[in-house]
Amino acid sequence: MNENEDFSAIVRADVNISYDEQDNSLRPQVLKDFLGQTSVKNNLSTFIEAAKQREDSLDHLLLIGPPGLGKTTLAQITAHELGVDFKPTSAPALDKPKDLAGILSTITPRTVFFIDEIHRLKPAIEEMLYIAMEDFELDWIIGQGSAARTVRISIPPFTLVGATTKAGSISSPLRSRFGIIPRFEFYKKEELASIIKRSASIINVSVNDDAALLMSSCARGTPRVANRLLRRMRDFAQIKNSRTIDIDTVKEGLAKLEIDEIGLEKYDREILLSIINNFGGGPVGAETLAISIGENIDTLEDYYEPYLIQCGLLQRTPRGRIVTQKAYAHLGLHVDKVDNENQKDLFN
Ligand SMILES: Nc1ncnc2c1ncn2[C@@H]1O[C@H](COP(=O)(O)OP(=O)(O)O)[C@@H](O)[C@H]1O
Ligand SMILES: [Mg+2]
Repeated sequence: MNENEDFSAIVRADVNISYDEQDNSLRPQVLKDFLGQTSVKNNLSTFIEAAKQREDSLDHLLLIGPPGLGKTTLAQITAHELGVDFKPTSAPALDKPKDLAGILSTITPRTVFFIDEIHRLKPAIEEMLYIAMEDFELDWIIGQGSAARTVRISIPPFTLVGATTKAGSISSPLRSRFGIIPRFEFYKKEELASIIKRSASIINVSVNDDAALLMSSCARGTPRVANRLLRRMRDFAQIKNSRTIDIDTVKEGLAKLEIDEIGLEKYDREILLSIINNFGGGPVGAETLAISIGENIDTLEDYYEPYLIQCGLLQRTPRGRIVTQKAYAHLGLHVDKVDNENQKDLFN
């Protein structure tokens, strides 16, 4: 990874492995260190306690929400709190039914089996998973051609924890097999400030309160982005020979990273400007928009749009994406002066 990618990747928090390894040290291990998401956390805590009392496996759990909000973290914590094994994989890694059978036939009782990006499961694997989730059995095919037959083998009871950024892409038979389906919300500013403080103490740097709050307002409601901002600000502070991140360091750092006061990066602004300049403010289809900004549609939909929507700058309508008046205001454009005809003059 080069420096340019580094700077432009604050939003796209999961594209880089070395970052994820660093992230691991900041991952809370127990529920009480998992800050924010109060209702998700309180409910889960009850269900975990009840399952433990019954000495039963926890019901299957589907975690829904944008990237970087803590789905993987919460899956790990669930296993830890239950005192059971954690077995992680991701849907793209499960290529053949035997890949799934290989894992499920060797797990210990009540294991938390985590499938990331579960909306990307192949149909044959999904079919196998239905039976595993419902009956704790696997259909195993023995022999080939006309001699092939299916036998059912038992597997230990387990808890499937699925994570997805795309709830709409989960088939209804799969969805209906989950007993607990929490939706993650973007974090509040104060919650992110606590997360930043916690992370700062782990990476051994101190952060002033106002500096932490400023970082939180620019962290897109997302802990992973908050942690990344913290690391970059630590670098800026370090260059100034300071072990404390103060508000001036954060202000300067944000300016250098071209991150504005609500956490939009250059790329977010380009998306909004492209809709305004090239598509008269919208509506424009997601695919067309993705092509116009040279990005793939998944990245657009998973990383950029949720926060732009949350900020009220962008709307998804049945006819496509449109920018709101608030977006014009945020970009310093006067909406009443902007109509389809004269936009070209304004921006070209
Ligand atoms: N509630 C939380 N409290 C503290 N840190 C969190 C919380 N949620 C996420 N994080 C931090 O953010 C990072 C990204 O979380 P992760 O679970 O990988 O997100 P997701 O799987 O939803 O993309 C983690 O490494 C962790 O350090
Ligand atoms: Mg994850």
